[in-house]
Amino acid sequence: MARNPYSPGVGTRPPYLAGREQQIHRFQRLLEDYPEKRRNLRITGLRGVGKTVLLKEYERIARRQEWVVVRRDWSTRLCEEADFAIALAGYLTEAVEALSVKVRIKKRVAAAMKAIGQVQLQIADGVSVSVRAGSEQFASTLLEDGLREALMQIGEIAQAQGRGVALLFDEAHSVYDRQAKHQFPLGALLSALVAVQDDDEYPMPIMLVLCGLPPLVGNIHAARSNAERLFRAEVIDNLSLTPERPDKLSAAAQALVRPATDITYGPGVADRVARDVDGYPYFIQWFGEALWEAADLEGTTTITAKLYERERVAIQRSLDEEFFEPRYRDARQADQGTLRVAASLGAERLTKADLDAATGRSTGALSQSLIRLIADNLIYRDDHGVYAYTAPMFGDFMRRRHPRLEEDE
Ligand SMILES: Nc1ncnc2c1ncn2[C@@H]1O[C@H](COP(=O)(O)OP(=O)(O)OP(=O)(O)O)[C@@H](O)[C@H]1O
Ligand SMILES: [Mg+2]
Repeated sequence: MARNPYSPGVGTRPPYLAGREQQIHRFQRLLEDYPEKRRNLRITGLRGVGKTVLLKEYERIARRQEWVVVRRDWSTRLCEEADFAIALAGYLTEAVEALSVKVRIKKRVAAAMKAIGQVQLQIADGVSVSVRAGSEQFASTLLEDGLREALMQIGEIAQAQGRGVALLFDEAHSVYDRQAKHQFPLGALLSALVAVQDDDEYPMPIMLVLCGLPPLVGNIHAARSNAERLFRAEVIDNLSLTPERPDKLSAAAQALVRPATDITYGPGVADRVARDVDGYPYFIQWFGEALWEAADLEGTTTITAKLYERERVAIQRSLDEEFFEPRYRDARQADQGTLRVAASLGAERLTKADLDAATGRSTGALSQSLIRLIADNLIYRDDHGVYAYTAPMFGDFMRRRHPRLEEDE
């Protein structure tokens, strides 16, 4: 038989990108509207729903339309303004280099490079100045000023060439402002961007795309109170289980069926698998790969209901062990206890009040535990003070594999 087409992994391009037609259409519209109408994009969703894959698709689309694209992952290290400044200077240098293929604009490139250099220098100076003057706020406005100047220069080069510059940042939830530490990397970037994009006379063709876990929404809001209007929001979810038309397969089932050119699924089997994994893209790839393997081993070209029934439990078990279990193991013992109690409440979301009532621990200890679980990205707090798991179906896994213990009482 041919090669196994499925692609469970981190940001690995799926053999068939299912159910994202609308997101792609909206992104194309965003590009077309530039520079007269300037909008940035915020992409959020849980672990493994396909954010990175979509971001990479956006990158391909933008490049095809001659945009200069810089795509990078952010990490918590960049919460420090000094590190953030260095990283951004690197990205912006890359953008200028990509733009500066023409000799005619040498002078402009030199000016832009100088402005980028200032981003790093000023922040380095700013930190020392602020320590001396005792005014930490100063450093932040320096970062903002430096970024604004650099973005402005880059925008002018791009504009002169009739091109756009798209800055795509994945794992963007990792960078947030911290008042107590006087570190405002995200606020500085957003404010600089507003200044550059707001000028209707000289509309700068620069677009920012931030992609990450749901806490990104709150981080942006905290960084700039009116930031909402800067971004179009794209919330990425599991693939749909409902077909658009009765004679078609659902997006989730298509993700299974389309890539398999050398095997077929028995009647209703793809739908059944899709429903069992709730349309979760990562699991679809995982199940697809394992079922393909099983069919290959059996020397058959059809994944029948019988074959699926026989394999299902073993596939789920391997998935538990490789995907969910390490997350659970990473948590401290006390926090594992919190997770067990949380799951015993029976849902994929929970409130602190319910947890409080269910555990014997002090409210303080529970709060600390929740803070650690959030820092480890195992759970997040949504707008309404409700906690939810960052991985889909994590609660299900906990109830299946780590039920509540007596000592959790
Ligand atoms: N639209 C899709 N159709 C089919 N498979 C998909 C789709 N989107 C993603 N996948 C598959 O799902 C898996 C997870 O995708 P991806 O890494 O992009 O998720 P993510 O949201 O970035 O996760 P994380 O939050 O962990 O970074 C990959 O194996 C990918 O091939
Ligand atoms: Mg990702």
